[in-house]
Amino acid sequence: MRAVIAVLPGDGIGPEVVAEGVRILRAVAWHFDHVFEMEEGLIGGAAIEATGVPLPNETLALCRRADAVLLGAVGGARWDDPHASIRPEQGLLALRKALGVFANLRPVRVPPALVRASSLRAELVAGVNLLVVRELTGGIYFGEKRREGTGSSETASDLCCYSAGEIERVVRVAARLARGRRRRLASVDKANVLETSRLWRGTVTRVVHEEFPDLVLTHLLVDACAMQLLREPKNFDVIVTENLFGDILTDEAAMLAGSLGMLPSASLGNGGPALYEPIHGSAPDLSGLGVANPVGTILSVALLLRHSLGLTLEAGAVEQAVNLALREGWATADLASPGREPCTTAVMGREVMAALLDERVPV
Ligand code: IPM
Ligand code: MG
Repeated sequence: MRAVIAVLPGDGIGPEVVAEGVRILRAVAWHFDHVFEMEEGLIGGAAIEATGVPLPNETLALCRRADAVLLGAVGGARWDDPHASIRPEQGLLALRKALGVFANLRPVRVPPALVRASSLRAELVAGVNLLVVRELTGGIYFGEKRREGTGSSETASDLCCYSAGEIERVVRVAARLARGRRRRLASVDKANVLETSRLWRGTVTRVVHEEFPDLVLTHLLVDACAMQLLREPKNFDVIVTENLFGDILTDEAAMLAGSLGMLPSASLGNGGPALYEPIHGSAPDLSGLGVANPVGTILSVALLLRHSLGLTLEAGAVEQAVNLALREGWATADLASPGREPCTTAVMGREVMAALLDERVPV
């Protein structure tokens, strides 16, 4: 197969982890006889420095003509001035919106080798296998923002807005995925307080009742969900929720797998190019040190192979290679066991590649 992949390293540790994702893509191409054309583009702070805007037209054009987009992370102290009108994060949000990738899949699995790395007890996290489907192009992230007045009478507001149609389409994605799993769907909202959540709950109930009666649907308030994720994470199969709640809950869920550096994501829309990125940020404190965990990005590459290119076998091989490298004890500083020397970003990538290329991963 031939595919064009847009590669947007971004800021902070973005370029370091993306380099390992690219290494794995090259290895997959070589091993399975595909041709991946990788074209780099600017986004975030790096784009602001070079062009003055966080999402240059050229980058958007590149993403639109690609089969898929692999992105690192955006943001950093340099662009954190609260009064700045141009911020790196605007580039990421604009890209998500422009590509129409409204369904953000964030799978959470705890590899057996990492059960000990979690901050929760082993018996709670061993066997966790959940999927958060986060609505990605609506809600408070994209509502009107206002800032008025001065001094103590200065006010600020962010509008949270959802249409029934926006809710229906993301629920359908989550429900279809639940059908291929344990058929349990948990919808998360704050319907006891927020009007958007009441629309959310009503819409989810209707869509699931009419189109997916075979699923077991539950509704959870977001505060209760945050608690249940720590209390009994194995109870969850698929979670569907709005943009902001999904952002917060997935950072929490990442700690089940021991580190924010472990979680991949796939952002899917209506058949156009999809976007793949680790869920972590640009981690400016780690930037340039070569110590960041590339696994979230490498697992995002696996999702890219599966969802955008239909390369199921290859995707599974990458996931198995990650598990093998972890089982052999390779781990970056965020995961290393006490007393064991952590490996670098590049060594972690190299070891996953080695597991993929030699005979250890049967395909
Ligand atoms: C994420 C990130 C982004 C978000 C930031 C960088 C804008 O936290 O992908 O989870 O809030 O969506
Ligand atoms: Mg986040």
